[in-house]
Amino acid sequence: MLNFSYRNPVKVIFGSGSCAQITKEVPSGSRVLITYGGGSIKRNGTFDEVKAALSNHEVFEFGGIEPNPSVETLLQALNVIKQEQINYILAVGGGSVIDGSKFLAAIALEENDPIEVLRTRGRSIRRALPLGVVVTLAATGSETNSAAVVTELSTHTKTGFFSPHIYPQFAVMDPTKTLTLPTRQVSNGVVDAFVHVMEQYLTYPVNGKIQDRFAEGILLTLIEDGPKALSEPDNIEVRANLMWAASQALNGLIGAGVPQDWATHMLGHELTALHGIDHAQTLAIVLPAMMEDQRVTKREKLLQYAERVWQIQDGSDDKRIDSAIELTRAFFEQLGVPTHLSAYGVGPEHIDALVAQLEAHGMVKLGERQAVTPDVSRRIYEACL
Ligand code: NZQ
Ligand code: ZN
Repeated sequence: MLNFSYRNPVKVIFGSGSCAQITKEVPSGSRVLITYGGGSIKRNGTFDEVKAALSNHEVFEFGGIEPNPSVETLLQALNVIKQEQINYILAVGGGSVIDGSKFLAAIALEENDPIEVLRTRGRSIRRALPLGVVVTLAATGSETNSAAVVTELSTHTKTGFFSPHIYPQFAVMDPTKTLTLPTRQVSNGVVDAFVHVMEQYLTYPVNGKIQDRFAEGILLTLIEDGPKALSEPDNIEVRANLMWAASQALNGLIGAGVPQDWATHMLGHELTALHGIDHAQTLAIVLPAMMEDQRVTKREKLLQYAERVWQIQDGSDDKRIDSAIELTRAFFEQLGVPTHLSAYGVGPEHIDALVAQLEAHGMVKLGERQAVTPDVSRRIYEACL
């Protein structure tokens, strides 16, 4: 196992009806900005529930944070924060609203210049406004981690940044809140959480037994309950398990002390930035091709994955790896997430621009062994067609 330090300070408040507990979590006298997206929380009653829990606070709102939140929109929210002297942010939504709110929590303080935050990928952040979260979509794990991804529309750049100062203080996780999700977002959530685990698991062995078995447990849960969320959409236990799985997939625990990959995410970010493909859809496209391309360097973990996650026992090493990759692709397709670029209208003529964007963003030595160079990325995008 590799050396590590690990701390996750987010207080999780889990279960049906837990929005009511916000009252106790936000200090009285706070001037609270409720941030949200395109309005789903107003249509499904979540906004009213949150507002009721804040009846003794001074409450303001900013809506319209879009999927793949843009810096341009977030700068508008910054004006509200300044005008109204906001000192607490409450994000209510999916990963986009939470990530956008993390950016706001940082740039609300004069010392954190937005451009500098992005340029240093969060290292320049020394303080941030306190942030609470009500998560309505089980997917990114943003509710319990210190990462965020925002997009600069002008340059088609999706930048991830990290800081211990942007951990939410608390995360309300009420699985009933996910019942109003469109099927596409339910499927996206399962795929995103699955690939988060793979980015931290499918590398090379360092004898991290707890990390490996915990990762495999999350994958098995997603394989078992992901399809059930589609066939039994009212099953709350399924939603609860998916919500906890997505949080555990990216709260730092399974990635502590093991090598990490993240090349699939980086290739995926360019697909979202240039072609507007949903984050999880990009992962469903790239991961199977990445596994195939990197099958030599990932050989030992691929064999472990085949055996422990898909129970593949028979055949040569190569055959077992082939089957594991095929089953992974079939799982995404079963969830209704197409795994080829052609299904999203992206063709061979688009690959030069995707590789050029990776280079422009410094994504030239990706993966756990820095082996995914622009040439390799090109080969992988071609295999995604
Ligand atoms: O905007 P509203 O109206 O709320 O609708 C949203 C949005 O259209 C809708 N939705 C969310 N909860 C709902 C609901 N609709 C009905 N009922 C509900 N309960 O779902 C749509 C998608 O929402 P979004 O927040 O964009 O989805 P997701 O949670 O998948 O977040 C994706 C973003 O997270 C970033 C991605 O890059 C992307 O920008 N990621 C963040 C990570 C992190 N912070 O650690 C890691 C991930 O790898 C990922 O990169
Ligand atoms: Zn992701």
